[in-house]
Order: sequence, then C-alpha cells, then structure tokens
Amino acid sequence: MQPSATPMVNLPDGRAVPALGLGTWRMGERPEARRAEVAALRAAVEAGPALIDTAEMYGDGGAESVVGEAIAGMHDRVFVVSKVLPSNASPAGTVAACERSLERLGVERIDLYLLHWRGRWKLADTVDAFERLVAQGKIGGWGVSNFDVADLDALAALPAGARCATNQIYYALSQRGPEFELLPRMAALGMPAMAYSPLDEGRLVQHPALRPIATELGASCAQVALAWLLAEGVRAPGVIAIPKSASAERMAENAAAAGLRLEPRHLAVLDRAFTPPRRKAPLAMI
Ligand SMILES: NC(=O)c1ccc[n+]([C@@H]2O[C@H](COP(=O)([O-])OP(=O)(O)OC[C@H]3O[C@@H](n4cnc5c(N)ncnc54)[C@H](OP(=O)(O)O)[C@@H]3O)[C@@H](O)[C@H]2O)c1
Repeated sequence: MQPSATPMVNLPDGRAVPALGLGTWRMGERPEARRAEVAALRAAVEAGPALIDTAEMYGDGGAESVVGEAIAGMHDRVFVVSKVLPSNASPAGTVAACERSLERLGVERIDLYLLHWRGRWKLADTVDAFERLVAQGKIGGWGVSNFDVADLDALAALPAGARCATNQIYYALSQRGPEFELLPRMAALGMPAMAYSPLDEGRLVQHPALRPIATELGASCAQVALAWLLAEGVRAPGVIAIPKSASAERMAENAAAAGLRLEPRHLAVLDRAFTPPRRKAPLAMI
C-alpha cells in the first residue's frame, strides 16, 4: 500500500474536499458510547484532512452534538456536512433547522448543507432558503441527497440549480445502480457523488469476492471496497465516500484505503463479481 496522501475532490464551487470522509449515523444515540465516539472522531480530525457527514435526523440531533464536541476548536481542520429533514425544508423551517444544527455543532458555518431526501416542500423554496443561508454565511454551500434522475432534472431547471454541490446517494460495490443513468447525469452537471453506506452497512467487510484482492495487496476487504469507489479516472468528476465506524482503529484503516491502488485487472475481477447495471432501476435508498 502506498502512503495515504488523501486524494481530494473538487466541488463545482471550486472547494476541494477529502475523497474519504467519516459517517456518523447511529452516533449520539447511546450516552455510554458518547465518549468513545467523540474520541474516535477527534483522532481522525487530528490525523486530517477530514470531512464529517452528519444530519439533524441522526440520534435526533445527538450525532451533531457528538460531532460538535469532537471538533471543538478544530473546525478549520474539518469540512462539516449536515442535512435538513424534508419535513423541515420549508422556507422558514430550513433556516430554523440550520440554526439548531449550528448550535449543536458549535460552529458558525456548516460547510455543506444537504436536503436529506425530497419531500413535500417545493424544491424551489428549499433552494431559496439554502441560497439565503449561503448569503448569510451560515452555510458554505448546499446540495441534495437521495435524488434520482427526475429529481435532479427538476433541480437543474431552477435558476440556482447549478449551484448544487453534490448528491449524496447509496453507492457501493454491491449497489451499482447509480452507474446506469444517475452518475452520468451528475457528471454532465459537473457534480461529484457522495457515496453513503460505501461498505454496504458492513456487508462488504468480509465479502468473499473481495478477499483474494485484499490478501494480494496486504489490505482489508473494507479498504478494497473503498479504494474501488476512489479508483482514479473511473468515476469523474469524482466520488467522496463516507464510511462510518465507531472505532478509531477502523476509521484509520478506512482512511488508509486512500493509499491503495487497484489495477485494471483488479477492477475487472470486481466487475465480474459485482456486475454493473444494464438498465435503469429506481435509486435505492436506506
Ligand atoms: N443520506 C442518507 O440518506 C444516508 C443514508 C445512510 C447513511 N448515510 C451516511 O453515510 C454514512 C455511512 O453509511 P453507513 O453507516 O450506513 O454504512 P457503512 O459506512 O457502509 O458501514 C458501516 C458499518 O461498517 C462497519 N465498519 C466500518 N469500517 C469497518 C472496517 N474497516 N472493518 C470492519 N467493519 C467496518 C461499521 O462498524 P463499526 O462502527 O463497529 O466499526 C458499521 O457497522 C452514515 O454514517 C451516514 O453519515 C447517509
């Protein structure tokens, strides 16, 4: 494995963010786990560069509060992503939700603020609220999550639609559906994907199809699954993967996947084990 200088991905607004980030779903739910969660995230941020993905939904604000404690005094070293719940995404509700998240995170700005999935509020109203939050300096940029092609097209038709920084989607070796139409559409819009559940919620970490490549490269199956998402030149304009781990050791192991180079023959083996899609299927969502 090569030294893991973290590759960076450029957002459409020109900001460069680490291609490997940290998920936080299921953090902040159990008081007895809080200290370890904070310590693990803090260690990862200190090892930097870091991107942390969280949401007001996770632990009903608990995950944002864990992140806030972990990054206290270190926001300059971490790119913070959070999400507004669709039920809150009205013009006033979006602003109020963002202010609650800022408070829990203990920061003055959320670097990237996403609509968690499309809900009943008009997209144009949510985007207007996002733009107001950008103008006020409360968020650095905005994006969406769980948007399939039709939703993205509706977004692109809005005057500010081109300022959408990313679409956070369920994308992993065992979930390649987005490759058929969605990723090409995002590429045409210059929008990198943010791949959630990149280890397929842990289902890939012992996967027999990954084992031979992992053994050959002296890596773990989790690292092979993450390196596949980051493979150079395969998924322009880039993928940002946000694996979640509650353990500092596994976070470091996942970060080191940035130094793993898969060769074309490895990619071919993985294509045989995890067949790319041949037709459009609705975007899967967890
Ligand atoms: N936008 C959305 O709708 C959406 C939906 C789902 C997830 N997300 C985001 O994406 C993040 C990641 O997704 P996810 O949490 O669903 O699943 P994931 O990252 O694919 O997998 C997490 C699971 O893998 C285990 N794991 C992680 N690294 C490992 C390693 N190196 N070796 C062995 N096991 C390992 C974790 O266990 P331990 O914790 O015990 O290490 C955990 O059980 C979430 O935390 C969240 O931030 C967003």
